[in-house]
Amino acid sequence: MNEMTAVSTPVLPDAQTVTEVKHWTDRLFSFRLSRPASLRFRSGEFVMIGLMGETGRALLRAYSIASPSWDETLEFYSIKVPDGPLTSRLQHIAVGDQVILRPKPVGTLVLDALLPGKRLFLVATGTGIAPFASLVRDPDIYARYDEVILTHTCRDVADLAYGRTLVDGLAEDLLVGEEASAKLRYIPTTTREASPRMGRITDLLRESALGLPDLGADDRVMICGSLALNQEMKAICEAAGLVEGANSAPGGFVVEKAFVG
Ligand code: A2P
Repeated sequence: MNEMTAVSTPVLPDAQTVTEVKHWTDRLFSFRLSRPASLRFRSGEFVMIGLMGETGRALLRAYSIASPSWDETLEFYSIKVPDGPLTSRLQHIAVGDQVILRPKPVGTLVLDALLPGKRLFLVATGTGIAPFASLVRDPDIYARYDEVILTHTCRDVADLAYGRTLVDGLAEDLLVGEEASAKLRYIPTTTREASPRMGRITDLLRESALGLPDLGADDRVMICGSLALNQEMKAICEAAGLVEGANSAPGGFVVEKAFVG
């Protein structure tokens, strides 16, 4: 054991050490935690993480793992809710702090919950891009699909920075860089601030405004955002003839609510 590992030894049960914190805007931040040696997960899954509450009980919320399954640390992407019980405190974590992580990954935004298909749409709003940040760094996604279309709708241009940085970084990714540049298409949209592509993804899909063939039976869709986005996208998928999938019964699309605070 070297000095670094001795310093970062967790002291709380299930606690992990913060290794990196990045503030993207005054409402959004990402952070990395040490990874329990025994933790295995499938790209797109979430875990419960949190802090000790004042009553001495753990205050936990579901967070998608944003890092790829081969990464040494675990990355998370979060909103900051000023009066949110957890995120009002979590936004102040610093390198070396301890965060509770229950190492039981679960979730439906996994490739195994989808039937084989040609195009895969990953539709996110806000922090809903987190599970897709893991998936687009997984070689399996490019082995299974001819085309992967990542859409990210946010209010303002600055809210897109995490996703854009992720996608830009893929070019240098030794594992998936080549396949991602051939197969991944990134479609960022904003709804409140001017940008090259404006509008809600739901409207853009319904109006066939993306310059892509309409959603059809050979397409697969993963959806992660607010309840309203999820419901609207579910209706769009069903109108295209797709059936909702699950781990136990793979289908044409899968949905999960993004963590909201
Ligand atoms: P809008 O600005 O029109 O509400 P939030 O920051 O509230 O989580 O929203 C993130 C993004 O999701 C915003 O751009 C928001 O657009 C968009 N959004 C909210 N509801 C829906 C919906 N039902 N369908 C598509 N996009 C939505």
